[in-house]
This record gives sequence, C-alpha cells and structure tokens, in this order.
Amino acid sequence: MKIAILPGDGIGPEIIAQAVKVLKVFQGEGQPLELEYAPIGGAGYDASGDPLPEDTLRLAQQSDAVLLGAVGGYQYDSLPRSLRPEQGLLRIRKGLNLFANLRPALLYPELASASTLRPEVVSGLDIMILRELTGDIYFGQPRGIRILDSGERQGFDTMTYTESEIRRVAHVGFQIALKRAGASGTGKLCSVDKANVLDTSMFWREVVTEVAKEYPSVELSHMYVDNAAMQLVRAPRQFDVILTGNIFGDILSDEASMLTGSIGMLPSASLDASNKGLYEPCHGSAPDIAGKDLANPLATILSLAMMMRYTFSCEDIAQRIETAVRKTLQLGLRTADIAEPGMDRIGTNAMGDAVVAAIAN
Ligand code: IPM
Ligand code: MG
Repeated sequence: MKIAILPGDGIGPEIIAQAVKVLKVFQGEGQPLELEYAPIGGAGYDASGDPLPEDTLRLAQQSDAVLLGAVGGYQYDSLPRSLRPEQGLLRIRKGLNLFANLRPALLYPELASASTLRPEVVSGLDIMILRELTGDIYFGQPRGIRILDSGERQGFDTMTYTESEIRRVAHVGFQIALKRAGASGTGKLCSVDKANVLDTSMFWREVVTEVAKEYPSVELSHMYVDNAAMQLVRAPRQFDVILTGNIFGDILSDEASMLTGSIGMLPSASLDASNKGLYEPCHGSAPDIAGKDLANPLATILSLAMMMRYTFSCEDIAQRIETAVRKTLQLGLRTADIAEPGMDRIGTNAMGDAVVAAIAN
C-alpha cells in the first residue's frame, strides 16, 4: 500500500502528522504501508514555483492512494490565479481523474448539541453527498474576462457535462445507495440540479433517469438545488445519498457539514474509476490557527478510514479507526471547535495521541 502524503499549507502539516501516527500503528502491526511525502499548494509554490509540482503529480500517480491535508494561505492571495494553492488541488483532482467525491455528513451522538440545529432535527443524521469533481463550471471552457464591443468588461465561465461524465458518477451514486441499503432495504438517491433553468441540468436529469433503470431497487428522486439547500436545514434526515454536480456539491457539502456540529469532523474521498483515491478533510487550511496546536485532526484521521475502506478494501481497519474516534469522543475529549462550554479542550497532538491510544485498547 503506497500512500503519497501531501501535507500542504496552514494546519495541513499538523493534522497530517496525527493521521501518520495512526498509520504507524498499523505499520507496527505488519501492514505493508509505504509513505512518501511531497509538497502541494502554497508549499508546492514555495518549493518549486508551482502549486502542483511535477514530482508531486508523478508521486500521486504512482501511489495507490493520496492523503492530503489542506491548501491555501494569506501569503498566496495576491498570486495570479494559475499559481494559487487552490489550483494545485483542482489540477491533482483532474490529473488523477478523481471524478467521484464522497462527502459524508454523519452526526456523532456525542456531538449532537454542537450542531446549530436542534438535536431532534439532526440526531441520527447520516447523509452521503456524492459530488462530481472533474467537470461542470469548474473546468468548462471557454472562461475568462473579456472586453465587449460596447467597451464594458465581462467575466464568463462555461457549465458543461458530457453524457459519459454524468453516467459514470451516477453509477457510483446508485451503487453507494445500494450498499447503504444493505441486503433488505431500498436504497434512496436524490439527484440535485437546477433543471428548471439550466440546460446542463436538464440533460443531467435525463441521463441520471436513464441510468436509474439499471437500479430498480434504488428509489430515485430529483430536487432543485435551491430547495435542497432549504431542505438540508429544514429536515435533513429525509436524505440518504445526494448526487450532484461539482459546483452544487461544493456548496451543499459545506452546508451539510454544519449540520454535524463541526466541519472539523468530516472526511472525504475522491475516487477514480478503479477506486484509487485522494483522501482529505472537508475543511480548509485555517491559516488563522495554523501552528497553534488548535486544529481538529479527526476529519483527517477519518479520511484514513475512508482510504482503508474504498481503496484498500480493509473494512476491519476502517472500522477500528472509526471506533477509536468514537471512543475518544465518548471519553469527553474535544478540540476547541467541538467543545461545549465548560468542557476541557485538548490540542491537535493530544487528540492524535488519544486516537492512537484508543486503537490500541
Ligand atoms: C472544496 C474546496 C475547493 C473546491 C476549493 C479550495 C478549490 O472548496 O474542496 O470544497 O471548490 O472544490
Ligand atoms: Mg468547498
């Protein structure tokens, strides 16, 4: 199991260090784990003038999985767009063909009161957002800023989806819905679009409906994205799997993360057609708290669990990691972002050590 480790910027290196502690536990048990580090984002720019250095992309391509911290920092805000840290992230997703982005929103019972929504609205919440990650207005051409005949400047981007792009991510969505339903139940998939306005969305809906014929035991519904945004805070438990495009998924996954109390708890997986994957926490680089031992490493550690499940098919290790995270929460251990008033707070390092200890027990 060759894993490329890309710590990135801000809190990235601190949270990655905690995940690596966890990996070392399994290495110590004899798992054939090989780790290799490379810079990305601002760190890539600092090292070689490119947010995705050639060597980093090559390492990622040659690895079975990639673990990424986060990218971005104030000092890079004034760089031209092609050199900004976010470009490293977008290019590695595209370069590895990671079209299926899984973002679970799972509420841990211990954190029910950390949510800004009432416990009775969010308790038991378990949603999987499947965001298409390599198409849409993020990558469509043409784009730019141009001067019109009138002399006025105009910014423009292009939203596109090809049939094959929609089909392959729809298949992943239906398969996840099947898996989550288990042997007996009916799977539920809600496809989110803006088909009342956008041609791209109308086409998306048409193709998803065609793919659905191959999955008769999954109940497919469609929802407009504005309504989905509202339903997520009104009655989020109506959702099981949400399938959506790149930009809607970007926005809805941030919204969904807040239902669970803290974006610091949410992992993600970005997969290609053969389950090779890049795993990263959903949150960003949080430069304001970087280097202060304040960041919550649990989303990164939970991303490792997803790696073990989806890329390496090691369900037992995945569950041991997830159980260890639950145990640390049950012990009342909290980083600042998930601590309630009056609770003791521990730092990034101590949280990593606590998870390692919980795995051992
Ligand atoms: C995310 C982020 C990225 C995105 C940014 C940093 C490019 O918001 O992973 O959700 O928009 O995809
Ligand atoms: Mg985002």
